[in-house]
Amino acid sequence: MASQTSCVRVALSDRAYDIQIGAGLLATAGEFVGCCAAAKHYVVITDGNVGPRFADALCESFASLEDARLDVLSFTAGEASKNIGSMQRLWEQMLEIGADRSTVVIALGGGVVGDMAGFAAATFTRGLPFVQIPTTLLADVDSSVGGKVGVNLPGGKNMVGAFWQPQGVLIDTDLLASLPDREYKAGLAEVVKYGVILDEAFFAYLEGCVAPLLARDPAVLRQVISRCCQLKAEVVVADEREETGVRAVLNYGHTFCHALETVTEYRRFLHGEAVSLGMLCASRLAEDLGRVERRVTARQSDLLQAIGLPIEVPKLDGDALTAAMLKDKKTRHGKLRFVLPTCIGHVDVVDGVSPDRAKKAWWPK
Ligand code: GLY
Repeated sequence: MASQTSCVRVALSDRAYDIQIGAGLLATAGEFVGCCAAAKHYVVITDGNVGPRFADALCESFASLEDARLDVLSFTAGEASKNIGSMQRLWEQMLEIGADRSTVVIALGGGVVGDMAGFAAATFTRGLPFVQIPTTLLADVDSSVGGKVGVNLPGGKNMVGAFWQPQGVLIDTDLLASLPDREYKAGLAEVVKYGVILDEAFFAYLEGCVAPLLARDPAVLRQVISRCCQLKAEVVVADEREETGVRAVLNYGHTFCHALETVTEYRRFLHGEAVSLGMLCASRLAEDLGRVERRVTARQSDLLQAIGLPIEVPKLDGDALTAAMLKDKKTRHGKLRFVLPTCIGHVDVVDGVSPDRAKKAWWPK
């Protein structure tokens, strides 16, 4: 195992698993997967951007595993592929290459790949073990951990899916070096989210280390990713299936974010960019409801802007955004549910917000 590796345990009793975080870990993937999900047949699911860059290195890391057969399946990169049509093609390809109940799925890619590969694993022959090897910052700190997998419907993000925990998560921070700037910054939106919802000290740390973060300093990256994974692991262990409201805090900004993504057909914003805008909308809504001081929104806005994330929602159809919000999984009887801050480091789940009230938060007066 490479030096300077951090390990975070997701302590889910019989579904417990480790997240390994460090530089150069892709070279150890065969050993890692062999330990947490030994098999004779692995299906690597990746996309057209990530596969050409990292699939060979991943396959080479399995060279020492005797008799292990690897197949690599790839789909077109991008959120627009996260649909049931692409999923059906994956299921059919898995059948063609002879995947069966003894196969292990490996997700190699960003959030879309993790969600697609995880859902393929959750559903093919009623469930296969899988391992997450995320390759984007957003996937490192959020989507690869916690077992949410699935696809979008045209009218709603992540509307069809499952809770299906991986057997392990391997995060190689070196893979972030070649991530396009826009995607890297989008991942930082989820990093900021953890500070706002759970950890004021972490938020303050981020405010003080924007330069090394943007420079992708390996030590800072390992520390930041480890802290996010640790916070997420605690939340997932407390409320794995989002039943008690504990896990719901991870959705801070996401009701606004998902409406933005839906109305713009998943093409205009990267998820993290929509999260950046969504957090500021949620914070403005909290201000309007008298739950939080303006300074709390300003601190988030300043940090997100320093990172280079969008902070102003462009002009879009307000009624279409409201209609999209009403289709959110958290909506109950026409009333919206939001995760709203009370200060930096703490949020509450707030029920019964009227759509008209929420609508005012898109654009500050
Ligand atoms: N990304 C939110 C969650 O995992 O619950």
